[in-house]
Amino acid sequence: MFSTPFVLCFALFLSLSLLLLFTPRILPPKHVTISPSDEIDDLALFHQATKTSTHNPSIVSHLATTNPKPKIAFLFLTNSDLTFSPLWEKFFHGHVQLYNIYIHLDPSVKITPPGGLFEGRFIKAKRTERGSPTLISAARRLLAHGLIDDSRNMYFALISQHCIPLHSFQFMYNYLFSKTHKSALKSFIEILSNEPTLPDRYVARGKHVMLPEVPYERFRVGSQFFVLNRRHSLVVIKDRRLWRKFKLPCLNLDSCYPEEHYFPTLLDMKDPNGCTHFTLTRVNWTGSTGGHPHTYGPGDVSAELVYKLRESNSSYPFLFARKFSPGCLDPLLQISDSVLFRD
Ligand SMILES: *[C@@H]1O[C@H](CO)[C@@H](O)[C@H](O)[C@H]1NC(C)=O
Ligand SMILES: *[C@@H]1O[C@H](CO)[C@@H](O)[C@H](O)[C@H]1NC(C)=O
Repeated sequence: MFSTPFVLCFALFLSLSLLLLFTPRILPPKHVTISPSDEIDDLALFHQATKTSTHNPSIVSHLATTNPKPKIAFLFLTNSDLTFSPLWEKFFHGHVQLYNIYIHLDPSVKITPPGGLFEGRFIKAKRTERGSPTLISAARRLLAHGLIDDSRNMYFALISQHCIPLHSFQFMYNYLFSKTHKSALKSFIEILSNEPTLPDRYVARGKHVMLPEVPYERFRVGSQFFVLNRRHSLVVIKDRRLWRKFKLPCLNLDSCYPEEHYFPTLLDMKDPNGCTHFTLTRVNWTGSTGGHPHTYGPGDVSAELVYKLRESNSSYPFLFARKFSPGCLDPLLQISDSVLFRD
């Protein structure tokens, strides 16, 4: 049979392989931090965006001229494949000149580069991690690129790889730029002040750390996904004061969602009446686990689900929804003409 040295060698080899295989899962992940050089890069970018935008900061004056038409900047924030790009392609089809696409992809992730309208739309990105201020930085980079790239970008919609459109492009465009409803030209961002989790989240970086810039009474929470107008996008990239606090690492990772607080808190301080306090992105928090909302699978996709997700208790509609798993692409494409983009 086998000689003892052989068995020993084999056992050693096996245990080493197993160790290598499982080590990344055993060791706690190293946290992504924002280095001083990242910070300098961002500041230069934000400075450039401020400079190019100061000449025409007012969305209202821009809209007074109906030609050329204003555009919507779609800001894709992702750390995986943009599985739903074929669905978005259908959504954008026929509307050139009315939108721009910008993608922030975590550079540590390798993906199959999307083609078509998404090709070459990647901005210079840095690493991102949940529960850290890196998601704020990524969103601000996207806003800055949109501001610099095209002065006709008047709305900036933050989208994740799990988001889908709930209506046609035309419906969305008409809704956002209609001057007749009460939300005309406001920013669509959820801003809440009476959530039970707020006290814990306020002290996630330490007890008095947020003072004096952010007293507890001014601390807000809201959905990570928003649609900001140009004026507010500029407010966000110009901010240094709140960023100084929100960029600090959390001590309590269970209560750490900086991107859900930074934008609502800042905009509520700067221009509460210019915001609807409502997010256009429907999300299902029923039965959420580990801070993740309910994720819809392929079997859930139906016309009925789309109609249900569109239902809103407010006078504002839902234009996007999340989260959808990659397998939902085909069933969504199947109902795209007959349901999703019918209006
Ligand atoms: C929300 O998710 C729950 C499961 O967590 C599900 O039972 C419910 O039907 C979902 N609601 C909608 C509107 O899809
Ligand atoms: C609308 O209100 C009903 C009743 O309060 C609630 O069950 C439902 O989840 C709400 N829908 C949304 C989209 O918030």
